[in-house]
This record gives sequence, C-alpha cells and structure tokens, in this order.
Amino acid sequence: MSGKPVNENSKNEQLEQYRTDDTGKHLTTNQGVKVSEDEFSLKAGVRGPTLMEDFHFREKMTHFDHERIPERVVHARGFAAHGEFQVYESMKEYTKAKFLQDPAVKTPVFVRFSTVVGSRGSAETVRDARGFATKFYTEEGNYDLVGNNIPVFFIQDAIKFPDLVHSIKPEPHNEMPQASAAHDTFWDFVANNQETAHMVMWAMSDRAIPRSLRMMEGFGVHAFRFVNEEGKARFVKFTWKPLLGTHSLVWDEAQKIAGKDPDFHRRDLWEAIENGDYPEYELGVQIIEEEDEFNFDFDILDATKLWPEEEIPLKIIGKMTLNRNVGNVFAETEQVAFHPGHVVPGIDFSNDPLLQGRLFSYTDTQLIRLGGPNFHELPINRPVCPFHNNQRDGYSRQTINTSQVAYHRNSLANNTPAPASPAQGGYQHYQEKVEGRKVRARSDSFKDHFSQAALFWNSMSEPEKKHIIEAFSFELGKVMNESVRQQVVDMFANVNVELAAAFAQNIGAVPPTSGGSGVTKSSPALSQENKVKKPET
Ligand code: HEM
Repeated sequence: MSGKPVNENSKNEQLEQYRTDDTGKHLTTNQGVKVSEDEFSLKAGVRGPTLMEDFHFREKMTHFDHERIPERVVHARGFAAHGEFQVYESMKEYTKAKFLQDPAVKTPVFVRFSTVVGSRGSAETVRDARGFATKFYTEEGNYDLVGNNIPVFFIQDAIKFPDLVHSIKPEPHNEMPQASAAHDTFWDFVANNQETAHMVMWAMSDRAIPRSLRMMEGFGVHAFRFVNEEGKARFVKFTWKPLLGTHSLVWDEAQKIAGKDPDFHRRDLWEAIENGDYPEYELGVQIIEEEDEFNFDFDILDATKLWPEEEIPLKIIGKMTLNRNVGNVFAETEQVAFHPGHVVPGIDFSNDPLLQGRLFSYTDTQLIRLGGPNFHELPINRPVCPFHNNQRDGYSRQTINTSQVAYHRNSLANNTPAPASPAQGGYQHYQEKVEGRKVRARSDSFKDHFSQAALFWNSMSEPEKKHIIEAFSFELGKVMNESVRQQVVDMFANVNVELAAAFAQNIGAVPPTSGGSGVTKSSPALSQENKVKKPET
C-alpha cells in the first residue's frame, strides 16, 4: 500500500485488489486442483456409502458449514453504501483533522444504516431508532462517526447498556417480540430507569419510522472535542442533515410495508444509487467553548440531553454523497467494524460516561464477531493510508511480518512513534486536567430527566402529538402486566399530563390527575438562573 494522496477513489481502488469473479472459469478446490465433477460425492459403489477420502466433498461442505458469523449484538439488520465527503470550508480554526481542512479534498466514506433491536432477518420499517455509522477513510487513518437518527440516548452511563439491551431484545422465555418495543420488559426498564424519558418520546414519535434512509438525520449524540493546531480544544456535537429533508411513514403504512416488503429501506437506497439519484447529507457541528461548559441548564456531557440549536447554532461544514452500492454484502456491510474510538488527530473524546464505555465495547464485541484480533486487515476495514506497528500473528493474520524486530524500543530497526507535531502527525490525547475521588455515582447535573422530554412534546404539532399518543397506546397496549402499564402512565405524567391521560385511557390504566410541568421532586428542572454547577470532586 502506498502513501499517495487520498482521493475519493482511494478506497475503491484498494477494494479492487480483493475482488474476484468466477465467471467463465473452471472450478477448482481451495488448493487450486481442478475438479472434474461437482454433483455426486465419491461412493463405494453407486448405491454405497460416501467415502471419507472425498476431499472435494469434505472441503465444499466444511466451508458451507462455517459460512455464518454471529450477528451484531445490536444493530444486526443493516444496509450500507460507499460515497465521498467534502468539507465546504477549512475547519482549521477548530480542528487540525486533515480531512476537514481543504474543500478540494474528497474523502472516501462507507456508511451503514441499521435498526437496533431486530435480528438480521427482521423487517426494516419497524418502530426503532436507526443506526447511522460513517467510516471516513482519511489520509491520517480511519475516523468513525457512529451515530443514530435520534439525538439523545436512553441511558447516561455505559454500565446500564447490557440491561437496556436485555430489556429491549425479545424476551428470553418465548423470543417475542422480534423487532419492536412492544413488550413488558422494555417498558418495565423504562419506568424504572426514568432517564429514558427523553429518548422514549423520540422513539414514540414519527422519527422512529423513517420514510427512507435517504430522508433521515444522523446524530453523533455525545459531546466530542475538536482540537486545533495550537492545542486549543472545544466541545463539539455532530449532526447529519439529509438534503431531501426529514420524512416519516405513518404507523399504518409502516406495518403494512413490513409485511409486504421487509427489505423496503434497503431497496429504496439501493435503487436510488443504481439510478444515479445519489443520497446526500450535510454535516453540521455545534461547538461549545471549554469555558462555557457550565453555562447551560443541562449537563453538556449527558447523552440524554440534546444541545438546543437556538442556543448552540448548527454550523454546516460539508457534504456527503453516497454514490456506489456494495459489491458483496457480507464482505462489506457485515464485516465492517465501526468504533467511536476510531479518531484522527484533531478529534478527541469528552468524559460523557456513555461514550467512555462505548470506547471499550466495540473492539471487544468485534473480536468475537469477526474472529480474532486481525479484523482491521479485512478489505473494508483497512485504512487507505499505510499502517504498520509491532503487532503480528493471531487468528487469520494476512500479512507476512518479516521484520526481525517486533518490539519498541530497539536499536535494530528505525521504527519509532511519530512526534505529535502537526508536520509529523502523531496522535496526542488532549491533556485535560482530571481530578476526583473514585466513586460509583451519577453527577447531580444528570438528574433532570423530564425537562427536555417536555420541551420535545411541546414542540410537536397537533398531528405529531396525536401520532405519539397512538404510538404509546399501541406499544403499551401489548404490555400484559398492569402494574408496568400504570408505572409508565405515572412516569409520563411528569412529561405532560394530557399525553399520559390520553394514552392511559386507551390502555385501560388510571389517568393521572396531576404532574405534567416537567418538574418532579426527584428531577428538579433547572432554570437559566439555576445552571448546572461544576460538581465537587
Ligand atoms: C453497534 C455497543 C451506544 C450506535 C454496537 C455494537 C455494540 C454496541 C457492541 C455492535 C458492534 C459490532 O458488532 O460491530 C454500545 C454500547 C453503548 C452504545 C455499549 C452505550 C454504552 C450507542 C449510541 C449510539 C450507538 C449512543 C449512537 C450514537 C451504534 C451503531 C451501531 C452500533 C450505529 C451499528 C454499527 C454498524 O452499523 O456496524 N453498539 N452502543 N451505540 N452502535 Fe452502539
């Protein structure tokens, strides 16, 4: 692999080296031996037993027996496409990331869209969040923006992610339901983990049944950091805006389509790209100065809160165009390995406790999903810039590492880390000052669960409110346990009392008589005068 400049074709040219096509060729075994026949196994007599020495049969069957890999533990059902990204103007003031400097540079990208809950074969138009994961193949290495189409998340701390997912996946005793939120365990989790309120409001809204993957926003959700050449850092959140606008199905359509065409979203994306009708998304950033960290009435590190665009404007900085379908879904869409920890110089993390836990989880799961530590060598995952280090060996290693020296420091090979200077480009973590006691706790600044959920409800039009009430009624109507239903009604009275009363009536629960201001004893809403305070360490 060369160190030549990256352009929009770099990834395609790299993948080209791996493409194979068997058209018009004689069949062989994997050892290259031509086979004379591929229909009958080798037998002792035409009606006798199959012989163990039939290497052709054994190889063909063994390979088939091992063709499946585990599906992703979440986001199993996905569809992807290739494209390119171009920044509109240099972002030099904010970040030294090279792919965000020059409007003339087109960076190759690979995007995988997904549903979260359903298994690999599930229908695509179900009510669910959608994954929106983008891999930028930059000249400084791979940068992954692993987002969703909803700007907030259900929980605040990564340690609760296994609990959330256990509650939302099919129930263990009967494996139902297979692809929706309509069951007892999910709603029990919601009622007993009330930081879920805001995202549940989005999930019950029309955002959770997108019309098309081409008409869907994407959100990085967490606060990240931009760091410029001078070492100055600022908090940043990322948003994708589809040029076709954001559009949804209505529930009745979504259900009918799920039955008639479970592949509805992938078909729409595939056909648009085949027809040259390329999906486009603009990238926006919201930036907060480090010194303004505590100047808001929510904690900017809390993933259950969005940053209101009225307060922190969205600056549109570039455009992504998806212009090429994959050649092989398994090799590309399934084997791709995204990771929020894949960053390049100029992009860094914040202390959002959800993000911090994600930084562990993705490689860990991919080690088993993709069979060992060498999945970065798979064609779809390889950076387009050169990569080398002292790693070697392991399951399915593709390279022949001939160096005598595979350790650092050494005097025998001149292989050293790159200095962190802009010219040399070595990644240096932002030197944030950190101090505190080791505690298992949630900051007080994370305790307001209902204010933004109430703002979301209040921002809805009448038809949108009606859809949300219908969604709660449908989903909770499927919950068998009366106490769980009632707990959810009581919880959402804290968001809006009319909302809770309306769906309570539809599901035969007791309507709430009070609440609804977005303020509860356990969740005091913070006013502008009562801003989030820097916690004691
Ligand atoms: C996929 C963990 C939160 C977006 C995954 C996978 C895991 C995981 C284990 C499967 C990865 C694979 O097999 O390759 C977690 C944990 C979270 C979390 C532990 C919280 C602590 C989030 C959030 C977002 C998100 C907040 C959105 C901002 C995605 C997407 C995928 C994914 C888009 C699918 C990537 C693909 O298409 O391959 N997550 N996740 N996750 N996650 Fe998360």
